[in-house]
Amino acid sequence: MSWWETAVGYEVYLRSFADGDGDGVGDFAGLIGKLGHIASIGVDAVWVTPFYPSPQADFGYDVADYRGVDPVYGSLDDFDAFVSEAHRLGLKVVLDIVPNHSSSEHPFFKAALRDGPGSTYWDRYVWRDAAPGGGPPNNWLSIFGGPAWTYMPEHGKYYMHLFLPAQPDFNWASPEVREEFVDILRFWAARGADGFRVDVAHSLLEHPDYPDNPLSAKLRPGAAPRHFGHLEHLYDLDQPGVPEIFREWRRAVGPDVYLVGEVYLGEPEKVRKYVTGGALHQSFFFGLNALEWDPPEIVRRIRRAVEVVPAGWGWVQGSHDEHRAVTRHGGGPKGVQRSLALWTAMMGLPGTPFLYQGEELGLENGAVAAENVLDPVGLREPSEGRDPCRTPMPWTISGETHGFTDGASPWLLSRRRPDHETVEFQEAAADSPLKSMRALLAARRETVSGRVGPVRWLDAPEGVVAYARDGVAHLANLTDEPVEVEVEVEAAGAWAPAYATNGGRLGGGAVRQVDGAVRLGERSGVILMKAP
Ligand code: NOJ
Repeated sequence: MSWWETAVGYEVYLRSFADGDGDGVGDFAGLIGKLGHIASIGVDAVWVTPFYPSPQADFGYDVADYRGVDPVYGSLDDFDAFVSEAHRLGLKVVLDIVPNHSSSEHPFFKAALRDGPGSTYWDRYVWRDAAPGGGPPNNWLSIFGGPAWTYMPEHGKYYMHLFLPAQPDFNWASPEVREEFVDILRFWAARGADGFRVDVAHSLLEHPDYPDNPLSAKLRPGAAPRHFGHLEHLYDLDQPGVPEIFREWRRAVGPDVYLVGEVYLGEPEKVRKYVTGGALHQSFFFGLNALEWDPPEIVRRIRRAVEVVPAGWGWVQGSHDEHRAVTRHGGGPKGVQRSLALWTAMMGLPGTPFLYQGEELGLENGAVAAENVLDPVGLREPSEGRDPCRTPMPWTISGETHGFTDGASPWLLSRRRPDHETVEFQEAAADSPLKSMRALLAARRETVSGRVGPVRWLDAPEGVVAYARDGVAHLANLTDEPVEVEVEVEAAGAWAPAYATNGGRLGGGAVRQVDGAVRLGERSGVILMKAP
C-alpha cells in the first residue's frame, strides 16, 4: 500500500502560518516551530504552498525560479531543515508545483521578450497574432478577469495568460517545457519531497488552433462575455494529451512520489482520465466548494464521485482559494458541527483527506477591511476575494496577531479573532474543535486495518452519508434533525462505536445504538467497528 492511501494531509498556506523572523510574513522558520502542532493533530503529510522566488503578484503562484526559495520564506537550507524536521515527526512533505504558467519575471519569459519571435525561449510561452480584424486572437478570458491575452507591441504579438498578465502560460506543446518540469520535479524529489500538488492541472494544453470558445447558455443573448463563466471552456481547458504529461511525470519520479492535482472540472466523469491509467494519483474533490449547505445534494455528489473514480480523490472542505468551510456551512457552532460531521463522512472514504490550516480549529473567515484587501481577485471582485481564508493562524489568545508574528505588522491585516478560535484556548478547553479533530484522526488511524475493500453504501435517510468498508462503518448525519440508520448486525458480531463527534456531546447530537440501528443526533457523525 502506498503511504497516501492511508494518509491525511494538511495544507499550510505558508505566508499565513507562522512568522519566524518578525517581518510579518510566514516562513520556513515559523513553520518548523509549529510542525509539532501539525503532527499533534494526527495528520500524516504537509502540503506547503509555493515558496519559490516570486514577485508575489499572485502570492507565490507566479514563480520566477522553480528551484529556489524566496528570501521572504527563508533559504534552501531552511527548506532542507523543514523537510528533515517533518520527516523526523513522521510527516510526509508535498510541494506545490505550478506548471501552467510562470511569473513574467521568470528568466525564460524575460529572454523571450528580449530576443523575440524565433529565439530560444520564445516557444516556451503561448504567442499568437492579433485576430484578422485586430484585437486579441480569440474570445478567451482570464479566470482572474479581462482577456486571456496581453499585447506586446514591440513584437506585434499577444501572449496568453489564464490568470494575471504577470502569469504567462507555458506552451506545453514545447518539448523543452516538458523536460524542464521533469527536471524540476526530480530536483525537489531528490531534496526529500514525497509528493506534489499540481496547480491547475487540467489546463496545461490548449487546442492547437486556438478557436473561440462558445458562449455559455447562461449568458444573456446578445451580451458580450466578460466573465470566465460566460464561456464554455471547450478549447482552453481539459484538452486531450494532458493526462499523458502526468504519466511522463510518474515515470520520471518513480512509484513512491504522490501526485495530487487541482483538476477543477466539476464533473467527476471529466476528472476520471486525470486520475486513472497511471496519470495523477488523485484530484482534490471540488464538488462541494460552490454549493450552499444542502445535505441531500452533498451526499449525492460524494456518492457519485466515489462511484465514478473510487480511489481518486483528495477530500477537501476548503483551501486558500475559497471562503472557509465553517463559514460556507453556515458559520457559528452550527457551521463547526456540520464541518465535523462532514469530516467524519470523508475520513473513511478511499482517497486522502486534506485539512486546510485552521480547519482543525473550526475557523471561520477572517475579517479583512476593504482598505486592506490584497488578493488580486478580491481587488477586482470583492465577493470572490480570497483574503478572508488567508488571514494569519491564531496561535495565542493574547497579542495583536495571536502570536503569528513578533513583528509590528502581519502582511495581511485582519480583525482579531475571538479567544475560542485560537490554538491556545482550544488546547486548554476540555472540548473544542481541535480536540474533536484529534479524536477523529486517532479513531481513523485505529480503524485503518478494518477499513479495506470497496465502499458499501448503507440505507440511510436523505442527507445522511452512511457506508461500510468491511469491518468499519462511517455514518454522518448532515441534516439538522436526529435520524436513525439501520446497520445490519451480521453473524460476526455487532458494531461498536470507535468515535462519535465531540464524544457524542454535540447539542442534542448524542449517538446511541438501539437494536441494529444507530440513532444520530443532528449534525453528528460516528465511526463504528465490527466487534470481533
Ligand atoms: C490555483 C491556486 O490554488 C490559486 O491560489 C492560484 O491563484 C491559481 N491556481 C493560479 O496559480
